[in-house]
Amino acid sequence: MNDIQILGEIPLYGELCTQGSKNAVLPVMAASLLHKGITVIENVPRIQDVRCMVKILEKLGAVVSWQDHHMEIDAAHLTCSEIPLDYVKQMRSSIMVLGPLVARMGQAVTYYPGGCSIGKRPVDYHVKLLRDLGITVEECDGRIEAKAEKYRGTGLYLDFPSVGATENAIMAAVGAEGETVIHGCAKEPEIVELCLFLDEMGAQTKGAGTDTIHVRGMEGKRDPHYHVCGDRIVAGTYLAAAAATGGEICLTDAPVSYMKSTLRALASCGCQLRTEEKKVWLKAPDRLKPLPFLETEVYPGFPTDMQSVFLALLCMAKGDSVIRENIFEGRFETAGELRRMGADIEVEGRQARIHAGGRLRGANVTARDLRGGAALIVAGLAAEGETVVCHCEHVDRGYERITEDLSLLGARIRRRKNQEEEHPVL
Ligand code: EPZ
Repeated sequence: MNDIQILGEIPLYGELCTQGSKNAVLPVMAASLLHKGITVIENVPRIQDVRCMVKILEKLGAVVSWQDHHMEIDAAHLTCSEIPLDYVKQMRSSIMVLGPLVARMGQAVTYYPGGCSIGKRPVDYHVKLLRDLGITVEECDGRIEAKAEKYRGTGLYLDFPSVGATENAIMAAVGAEGETVIHGCAKEPEIVELCLFLDEMGAQTKGAGTDTIHVRGMEGKRDPHYHVCGDRIVAGTYLAAAAATGGEICLTDAPVSYMKSTLRALASCGCQLRTEEKKVWLKAPDRLKPLPFLETEVYPGFPTDMQSVFLALLCMAKGDSVIRENIFEGRFETAGELRRMGADIEVEGRQARIHAGGRLRGANVTARDLRGGAALIVAGLAAEGETVVCHCEHVDRGYERITEDLSLLGARIRRRKNQEEEHPVL
């Protein structure tokens, strides 16, 4: 049982430090396999997906030490090149280990991660790019085997700017002889962070953050040190929670330059915002404005990972909003749970229309995925009465201390320990 209990309608006030970014640290941890030495990573968030990635690295023979938010990965002696199916099932983004592992070991085995509640999430772009790089990739019964003693850099082309496939291609290209030029790349901040890390390691990249990235192999070898940037989605989630509850908060360590589209959307809802380099301050309006049309796009557009949270936030506006989800085909699952809280949301294909009256009522709801679970917590903070969000293990994959953080901002929120404590005083 991993439920979170919330007493709603309490405005959030205060200041909070933003945790390290899940989607930046995971590819960097995978890339540590490219280095026959020690990688030091600071500001590592203590979240479930990182724990899973540690287990994968240790399974491959790396020695990982992790105290508080400081991690050291010694990948000098790898002993295995297969990622166990159990770990793949726990974390679909384990696919990003394939590229660095085959670059380092000359071979790698993993499995199809399979879909999740937000969509089918195939890995065909990943497989295509590795094959185009001259790596043999065999697929059989859900098993993926990559092999290549040596391979030369070349031109690679992405049909869609997939974040994970771009990351995999960059890491595989570090193992190629000569230069690789990748066209049609994702421009997400996590790609920029990965390339900063790879350059620190001794690889040579150019163009991260644009749609064309040049990669050359390692020149010399030095133990890389990397500081994980703040998590732009966690920061956006907490700002939305303050907006939904009529509060006023300040976030430190926030990657403000990576959050422009989210901050623009919050301002369009009537929030007052002020930013400094790593700080963002938000004051909610008395009444949130609806958004006539908001659509998710690849970076620098509005992030798909903020869509569920805004679905919840816009239920607190007065008037109709429309959200279009362009990235994942099944990412409106949370609408059904919000309806249990009194939301009036119509979903048609990739579009959701929210007929909002500015109120939600507490209910027992179920998290089905990471960001959907976070959205239900935001809804519970704003709703009248008590909300219990069940299966918050999904949320713990990406949020380090969501109940503690929100409690620091004045929320009445706690983990419900077991059945006996159905109605403790919050
Ligand atoms: C990354 O997933 C993030 N995960 C996701 O965050 C994020 O939502 C997504 O990028 C988009 O920004 C991590 O960084 C660990 P994609 P990824 O490849 O790489 C399709 C979260 O909540 N596709 O850019 O898997 C895919 O199905 C997570 O933190 C293929 O068809 O995303 C989707 O529709 C959720 N074939 C679209 O492309 C492929 O081979 C975008 O996926 C790969 C992807």
